[in-house]
Amino acid sequence: MNMQRIETKSGNFNMNNYGETYQNFNWDEAKSNFSWHTTGKVNIAYEAIDRHAENPDKADQTALIYSAPDREEKLTFTDLKQSSNQFANVLKKHGVEKEDRVFLFMPRSPEFYAAFLGILKVGAIAGPLFEAFMEQAVRDRLEDSEASMLVTTPDLLERVPFNDLPHLKKVVLVGESDQKGEAYIDYHAEMKEASKSFDVEWVDLEDGMLLHYTSGSTGKPKGVYHVHNAMLQHYQTGKWVLDLKEDDIYWCTADPGWVTGTSYGIFAPWLNGVTNLVRGGRFSPEQWYETLQEKEVTVWYSAPTAFRKLMSAGEDIVKEYNLTNLRHVLSVGEPLNPEVIAWGMSALELRIHDTWWMTETGGQLICNFPALDMKPGSMGKPFPGIVASIIDNEGNELPPNQMGNLAIKAPWPSMMRAIWKRPEKYESYFLNGWYISGDSAYKDEEGYFWFQGRLDDVINTSGERVGPFEVESKLIEHPAVSEAGVIGKPDPERGEIIKAFITLNDGYSESEELLEEIRQFVKKGLSAHAAPRELEVKDTIPKTRSGKIMRRLLKSWELGLPTGDVSTLEE
Ligand code: WTA
Repeated sequence: MNMQRIETKSGNFNMNNYGETYQNFNWDEAKSNFSWHTTGKVNIAYEAIDRHAENPDKADQTALIYSAPDREEKLTFTDLKQSSNQFANVLKKHGVEKEDRVFLFMPRSPEFYAAFLGILKVGAIAGPLFEAFMEQAVRDRLEDSEASMLVTTPDLLERVPFNDLPHLKKVVLVGESDQKGEAYIDYHAEMKEASKSFDVEWVDLEDGMLLHYTSGSTGKPKGVYHVHNAMLQHYQTGKWVLDLKEDDIYWCTADPGWVTGTSYGIFAPWLNGVTNLVRGGRFSPEQWYETLQEKEVTVWYSAPTAFRKLMSAGEDIVKEYNLTNLRHVLSVGEPLNPEVIAWGMSALELRIHDTWWMTETGGQLICNFPALDMKPGSMGKPFPGIVASIIDNEGNELPPNQMGNLAIKAPWPSMMRAIWKRPEKYESYFLNGWYISGDSAYKDEEGYFWFQGRLDDVINTSGERVGPFEVESKLIEHPAVSEAGVIGKPDPERGEIIKAFITLNDGYSESEELLEEIRQFVKKGLSAHAAPRELEVKDTIPKTRSGKIMRRLLKSWELGLPTGDVSTLEE
């Protein structure tokens, strides 16, 4: 097999038209696929679910297959229309209005999807939180968004500092609970009472629908604000990149607490009228292969870390399963190594298609769509209608093969429209009309983009974005820790792991137990994926004269690299 270049395959998007379609594609063309294009008023939940429920050919098609070790369920488009209507009625009854923030903090389940869609149907803004978040992470996000309602489970409630959150008025509890009182809403009891019909709140394309919190290199996580208009991109990339066809069974492994789990775990498949598989429970190679086989998955969207884990489980296991239904595999979140693509060609007999995008971009931008010859190691080419380039720090475009800022001509349909309550932060993303991604890359002569790394200190561990500042802040809350500097350290399976350098307060001395205690402190306070895998005690943490931690220097030390310019280092 020639790994330099893997040939195109057929798909919804025809290679023969690539040049022409690429040049001429206009996002307005996508509008005609939706019922609202004549009225101008819209609701993404209506387009994703109700539109199909109202179509006699699709009403009884399975929209959601929910599969967890202890629960199997199938819901049609009609079922989902009704359950989300019920939840919308519950929200209305409790005073939720357009643009209110309603957060969800719970594992994936049929109730999650009914609630999520119900929130959108009343015109409110949904804020899904990853279920592994601990108190600090939950608090930061609910505080910043000023969410008035939260949907959670009795188990997770102890991580919600309800009494410290003045804006949070009510909590919907999914499951049996002893919590009683005005502020608590019993999900199942109220759903039973609620009507299955609801007048969807029609909103403008530019009205908000979703807040995803994500990390940068400084400050607390920021609320990335998305609007209903994003559906154009979710729909069109679903068609041309995920290559969805109406009889597909599609599995996106991402949790809706992260953007992949909403844009491509909810919107893209349902806007395309496709059966969406959601799997609860933990990762194991056997169970994942079994899921692919049993559920007859045809299109599968996952991440390099998962593929690398499957790869290390060996190719013999794959042979025990019948994966002949699978026809299209995609990857996102971190660099996709050519070895993984080679493994896919051999073990799955399929290409694994890399896709590049971010929380802020709301949808895929640079991709290996089926219509493209693939160059393993490259992220592919810009999606039709997207203009991408490599620019220098002044905003000038660079010639091929020169490394620089990966930038996208703004705007595009699914681009974030704000950073919640932080206009100056939002503005800082743009330069000369370009959106600056924070990634470095180069473009080759044929227009393929090659990822090089992050330009800031953001850590990408198993495809999850972690801000060093958040981890450092948590670390210094521990009584033993005086100062902390946190970096990403390259790791063959996870991409990067979190490594923390700390100094200890007087009266504490280094020991295995103490380091483990500090690690657990971050894990229990913030979240498991943000806890440093490695902790190293230092005498000092290098800082600039203005007091900023020099993470770049810590990283150079760690990797044994030249330290570069240290002129700003404090004495
Ligand atoms: C990284 C996830 C290399 C990148 C959708 C980006 C990638 C950050 C790729 C966004 C890829 C995402 N190859 N790196 N195909 N896709 N990244 O916001 O650094 O969680 O800026 O969005 O992940 O992560 P986020």
